[in-house]
Amino acid sequence: MATDLFISVDQGTTSTRGLLFNSKGECLFTHQLPVTQYRPKPGYTEHDPVEIINGVKKCIEECVAFADSPIKGTFRCVVRIAIGLTNQRETTIAWDRLTGEPLYNAVVWLDTRTSHIVDNLIDVHKDKNAFLVKKIYAFYFENNRNAYFNNVPKVKEAAKKGTLCFGTVDSWMFYKLLGRHITDVSNASRYFMMNLSTCSWDSELCQTFGIKREYLPEIVSSSELYGYYETNNGQRIPIAGCLGDQQAALVGHQCFSVGSLKNTYGTGCFLLANTGNVPVFSGKGLVATVAYKLGPQEPVVYAIEGSIAIAGAGINWLKQNLKIIESEDDFNNACSETPSTEGVYFVPAFSGLFAPYWALEAKGKHIIRALMESFAYQARDVKQFKESEKIVEVIKEEMNYDKIHFKVDGGVSNSDVCVQFQSDILGTAVERPKMRESTGLGAAIAAGLGVGFWKNLTQVSNSINPDIQVFTPKMSQEGSL
Ligand code: G3P
Repeated sequence: MATDLFISVDQGTTSTRGLLFNSKGECLFTHQLPVTQYRPKPGYTEHDPVEIINGVKKCIEECVAFADSPIKGTFRCVVRIAIGLTNQRETTIAWDRLTGEPLYNAVVWLDTRTSHIVDNLIDVHKDKNAFLVKKIYAFYFENNRNAYFNNVPKVKEAAKKGTLCFGTVDSWMFYKLLGRHITDVSNASRYFMMNLSTCSWDSELCQTFGIKREYLPEIVSSSELYGYYETNNGQRIPIAGCLGDQQAALVGHQCFSVGSLKNTYGTGCFLLANTGNVPVFSGKGLVATVAYKLGPQEPVVYAIEGSIAIAGAGINWLKQNLKIIESEDDFNNACSETPSTEGVYFVPAFSGLFAPYWALEAKGKHIIRALMESFAYQARDVKQFKESEKIVEVIKEEMNYDKIHFKVDGGVSNSDVCVQFQSDILGTAVERPKMRESTGLGAAIAAGLGVGFWKNLTQVSNSINPDIQVFTPKMSQEGSL
């Protein structure tokens, strides 16, 4: 049987996954490895870059082995196979160009160790240039590089010798898989040192943060032939797609038109709405970002993003700390069995609150206080998805666009009750595809475009027909069903 197959590697915050898709967008195989979380101090979150890259290679090899295995006694004839990469964004790694060795652990996007540096920067610059200050606000998200320069002698030494390489996880994967120091433009926009209009490094921002251009990777498109990965059994497979994981989910949902929005409930929860060929700068704590550029000659498409730090991580907390559930199924079942919170509200602020508050100082101890305060709330007065509700309203307002098309994926979206609740709270239809590996599918689409399997997005849409379930609001304005 002749099959075109695409491997996606989704290097996420809590796991690295390999996924194999066919050209209809069906997921045929997955392989998942956990990522060890290191928390040396409160507020710190680190990963081991070597564990990350070994996990990535293992996932590719497992997908290749599956693609090479017989189905029903006959060998599958793989016509074309290409690799797409996608990754947790903003997590940063410093390594030595000569040895390829990491100089320190990866500092993860959830890490808040340098928020005081950002506060100082905002303070110093607040009277100067409003636009720059806004960009620095965005830098709340991506302040980790300062952690390296100020604290890790090896990084200082490498910078002095001219061998320092710095980059996000995609950049680390490219370096270790292909030997190239590059980053895709959707990830580059998360360094918050890229000029969003020109898609090149912004000298003013680089100077402000003391970063030399030579430490940074070359910015490339999200879909092109970057190079060939050689597998353990000697196959050369093109790596041809790369997107930050939230942008990949946007592509996986085929949010190709202005106003189409997706919400992924992963470790965190990220709403991205396609804003077309212009970045929409938010005055209210949302982030303008590159969504994708699906080919070196293709136009840049932007998105506006509302970021919520904790979703799946909150479920893990219920599992590991409170020990009141054992699995995601327990979580979903409890939600189905419990029609109301009886007035309990949960503020999942383990890493502070992200959009639109950006209050990184709010931590676990505040949960106790929040719980105490939550007793004052009455059932159905304030709802736990209030944050999403606000963000969507703000997105509509800032885009000056009302026809938002809302799509969901990620762990929590497996629960009908949660998706229904989301629809009720938003007062809008929510679309859930049957195949919810949207992040992986987005990277596979980028890879398919990169090797020329699909020539354009119309061909993608003709080939991949998602089976969508629509949830419509059932709750009245007063909150009764
Ligand atoms: O911006 C951080 C985001 O990319 C993390 O995604 O799926 O690992 O929660 P995830």
